[in-house]
Amino acid sequence: MKQLHKQSSMSHHHRRDEEMQGSHASQPYSPKSQKHNRSLPRSINYLLREQRLIFILVGILIGSTFFIIQPTLSRLGPQDSKPFIPGSGGVVHRSDELVVPRARVGRVPVGVSSRRLRIVVTGGAGFVGSHLVDRLIERGNDVIVIDNFFTGRKENLVHLFGDHRFELIRHDVVEPILLEVDQIYHLACPASPVHYKYNPVKTIKTNVMGTLNMLGLAKRIGARFLLTSTSEVYGDPLEHPQKETYWGNVNPIGERSCYDEGKRTAETLAMDYHRGAGVEVRIARIFNTYGPRMCLDDGRVVSNFVAQAIRKQPMTVYGDGKQTRSFQYVSDLVNGLMALMDGEHVGPFNLGNPGEFTMLELAEVVKQTIDPSATIEFKPNTADDPHMRKPDISKAKELLNWEPKISLRDGLPRMVSDFRNRILNEDETKGM
Ligand SMILES: NC(=O)c1ccc[n+]([C@@H]2O[C@H](COP(=O)([O-])OP(=O)(O)OC[C@H]3O[C@@H](n4cnc5c(N)ncnc54)[C@H](O)[C@@H]3O)[C@@H](O)[C@H]2O)c1
Repeated sequence: MKQLHKQSSMSHHHRRDEEMQGSHASQPYSPKSQKHNRSLPRSINYLLREQRLIFILVGILIGSTFFIIQPTLSRLGPQDSKPFIPGSGGVVHRSDELVVPRARVGRVPVGVSSRRLRIVVTGGAGFVGSHLVDRLIERGNDVIVIDNFFTGRKENLVHLFGDHRFELIRHDVVEPILLEVDQIYHLACPASPVHYKYNPVKTIKTNVMGTLNMLGLAKRIGARFLLTSTSEVYGDPLEHPQKETYWGNVNPIGERSCYDEGKRTAETLAMDYHRGAGVEVRIARIFNTYGPRMCLDDGRVVSNFVAQAIRKQPMTVYGDGKQTRSFQYVSDLVNGLMALMDGEHVGPFNLGNPGEFTMLELAEVVKQTIDPSATIEFKPNTADDPHMRKPDISKAKELLNWEPKISLRDGLPRMVSDFRNRILNEDETKGM
């Protein structure tokens, strides 16, 4: 038994020796390395083997070099050729797709920052609007016209149809619209008594809802907004000539109120968006304007007289013809609107020609210009027709450096050939 036990304990020891020998068999004995391996964590041990650490360090070096050089390269891009936005001190208000904070943020895709100024003109197919659009395109801007063609005509813009800078959208401003632009000229509104009295509720809706929608758009995209208000906000004025500080004498419940009060409300909305929401607003109070492309039979006195004289009909004078108006040629107005939009002053500004004429004097000028044999026919005056109108334009002269250049005698002949052609075309279509 004793022998057996001795044998078994000997074989046990022998096995342990074999195990120990086996574990040292692949590695030469080194007390130092054994000590080192035991004291370092396994992960560091892993890093130290097979030059892994060197590869990691080289990777970090390449990565940091890229991030150091990259912003320098992006600054050298076209971002430095920022477009000049008149009146904004050169601040870019928007990128191509989204309004961005006004500070430079990150990289701007190539071509975006060097794009042209983009402008919306509501009512751009109308008389004043179409002349404004011509000038903006001429200046090199991209122009989008929004119009429902109530009083506007595609013919006023047809010469621009092939121009890549021009776009036309049939849209009623009483409905909201989303566009990305830098400036909004808001003209959409029937301007002559015949048209605005045709559907007074629609007129007031256009003035209120239309203006609200366009102001909302301006606020959302950070665009500058110009409202074409009117001398009608002075009503039948008790102050003469009218200064911007005059608050007016308007009948709030008359036949003209949809237009007069509509525009007054539009001015209120514009100022509230300016004060309350920081929208950059401009307000123009336009006095009687005339020129080519006016509607032929819209009841406005200049177009009425000119069309009647060309058709050899008597010129209709309402009342005794002693009421006065001031008449500005359309190119003068367009200059004033652009100076206002691009300037730093909110307004309101009177934009009109201070030359004052009675209706009888105007009839005389038309007679001399078109047909010396033209006659006059008197009819009873319409309700709330103002007795006199003459702008005081000293504010626009001083702050916008603007004043009209074209007198009535010089301006009238410039619209006659356009009227003659259209009347001739009309007659041909009617088979006369
Ligand atoms: N011409 C002037 O003597 C005169 C004077 C004072 C103010 N204004 C103002 O100037 C602006 C332009 O006047 P204008 O003489 O060119 O008149 P206009 O009638 O020739 O032009 C107005 C344009 O607005 C469009 N329009 C009307 N309602 C619209 C709507 N709901 N949605 C979209 N488009 C609409 C018409 O189709 C038209 O093209 C008007 O706001 C007017 O009140 C003009």
